[in-house]
Amino acid sequence: MRGYIDLHSHWVAAIDDGARTPADSVALLKGLFEAGFSTVVATPHMRPGMFNNSAQALRNAFDSTCSAVSLDKHFPEVHLASEHFFDDIVFERIIGDLALPYPSRIPPEQNKGRRCALVEFPTSRFPARIEHRIFDMMRRKIRPVIAHPERYEPVWDDPSVLDPLLDAGAVLQLDIAALSGRYGRTARRTAEALLTQGYYHAASSDAHSLKDLDAVREGLRALYTIAGREEAEFLLIEGPRRILDGEVQT
Ligand SMILES: [Fe+2]
Repeated sequence: MRGYIDLHSHWVAAIDDGARTPADSVALLKGLFEAGFSTVVATPHMRPGMFNNSAQALRNAFDSTCSAVSLDKHFPEVHLASEHFFDDIVFERIIGDLALPYPSRIPPEQNKGRRCALVEFPTSRFPARIEHRIFDMMRRKIRPVIAHPERYEPVWDDPSVLDPLLDAGAVLQLDIAALSGRYGRTARRTAEALLTQGYYHAASSDAHSLKDLDAVREGLRALYTIAGREEAEFLLIEGPRRILDGEVQT
């Protein structure tokens, strides 16, 4: 199968804990392409204190990785966004248009200027006043896409803690590798529960290096087995396409 859209990956070289060199970038992009991803969005970390990357620094790193490798027909179509750690500093950047939402490929008049932005939370707790912050983003036509909810401890006991976030406008992105057990049994069970209850809008790799691809391939097989072909392909193709182009309706 081809045509999958990966909305979460760390293939830009030397900017976070993903690819270290352009050669790593090439290997990862080729591996994702062979696994079925025809479009791969780079989402390097923006996380003050750990990865002190501004939007401009990420744009520069993306440009220099792209110019160091020759992306021919054996590579996916590539784009740049960011995985935004949802603290006060990054939230202000998102609201102030200083972040990197997904780059819609369609004219603004077609999606009313709406965009989506990838956000991640600390694993042990949700940020304070999270629903209010989601409303603030939605008022500015930026819909949050919450990365790997199956890894968050508050979700483990009770997935319905996510409901107020979804009601406020957020959508959820599965890390495919969680279905292989890559993040432990609890994350795997939680991913299976969220999947069967229809919580997810997209499924992505969160691949950092070529070493992650065995777990991604195993997770893809599990995704088809658990969700069935129609739902699996929605999560890998149409759901991500709507997020990328800012056309999500909830
Ligand atoms: Fe990530």
